[in-house]
Amino acid sequence: MTNPRDLAPPYIRAIAPYQPGKPIADVARELGLEPDQIIKLASNENPLGVSPKAYLAMQDALEDIARYPDGNSFALRDAVCAKYGLKPEQLVFGNGSNDILELAARAFLTPGTEAVYSQHAFAVYALVTQAVGAEGIAVAAKDFGHDLGAILAAVTPLTRMIFIANPNNPTGTLLEKEALLAFMRQMPRQILVVLDEAYDEYLPPALKSESFRWLEEFENLIISRTFSKAYGLAGLRVGFGVATSDVADMMNRVRQPFNVNSVAQAAAVASLADDDFVERSYALNQAGMLQMTQGFNKLGLSYIPSFGNFVSFRIGNAMGVYRRLLEHGVIVRPIANYEMPDYLRVSIGLHDENARFLEALKNILSEEKLRKES
Ligand SMILES: Cc1ncc(COP(=O)(O)O)c(C=O)c1O
Repeated sequence: MTNPRDLAPPYIRAIAPYQPGKPIADVARELGLEPDQIIKLASNENPLGVSPKAYLAMQDALEDIARYPDGNSFALRDAVCAKYGLKPEQLVFGNGSNDILELAARAFLTPGTEAVYSQHAFAVYALVTQAVGAEGIAVAAKDFGHDLGAILAAVTPLTRMIFIANPNNPTGTLLEKEALLAFMRQMPRQILVVLDEAYDEYLPPALKSESFRWLEEFENLIISRTFSKAYGLAGLRVGFGVATSDVADMMNRVRQPFNVNSVAQAAAVASLADDDFVERSYALNQAGMLQMTQGFNKLGLSYIPSFGNFVSFRIGNAMGVYRRLLEHGVIVRPIANYEMPDYLRVSIGLHDENARFLEALKNILSEEKLRKES
């Protein structure tokens, strides 16, 4: 009998599964720790939790849970349009923004076509490209960031899509809006550019691209946003894509009719109305980033300056340190699968969580030093 795996096409068999952050429950079980002793700084989640307004909206939405959600996300569409001055037909809603990336790939890529992204860029670009049998082209990064010139040079007659993460995860690098705009102007119009702005809410206002306005000039642009980060709704899975109405129409055709659940829709609407929560999340992240980077400086560790809610730092024996941190009840993220085996990525947490992580790291480093000396 053939192995059932062989029934899948070779491009599916070749997919390396996504490696998520280790859940608290797994670490508790494996290391015999109490879950409340463990801090997770591994998945770029919002340490403040969720907006109290969203929490109430979720409770209300539970009353109607026996019904299918609104497949058109009418109220959420309305709220996003009002906030950003967009037209309803420009929007696509997703089960997280990962869903938006996947819908873009499914609508526009086929076997025999190519999608281009940067080395060290968010892993899902390669996954969604491979899943539809297209060829993923990874372009060497420059100083851990996107090399826009090299990406342009990688375009071939087979290229249909470019993925750009701004800021990028796991490197935290940011492209200047002028550079991105110049890049868009040079990009042939038959190539779609997916601009992933999952961390946009963490940018200081002067550094935001305000890319929604660019859609007036570029019909080949898709922008993705998420409620998983600054809005604190990672567990509910909701994000959205913004494009011209024609592009959005194609993506909506491959979308499952009820891909965004009703509780997520209600929470997202309420979150959009809670600017105070997003401002608090931003301020906490700014302070926490300073605390982390000052901590790294004190420990003599180098890090990649980051514009997200996480930072990647360079460390010898990264996997060993990762495991030792787990024993201290601190979960961070190894990023060897991003071709960064000498780095770990830590998400910015609450002040005390950041302090606990830095303290554990300090202890582990002095133990390692002692071990080397002995
Ligand atoms: C750059 C980037 N894009 C997209 C996502 C996907 O987030 P979600 O599917 O939760 O919206 C993430 C999550 O870590 C990310 O880092």
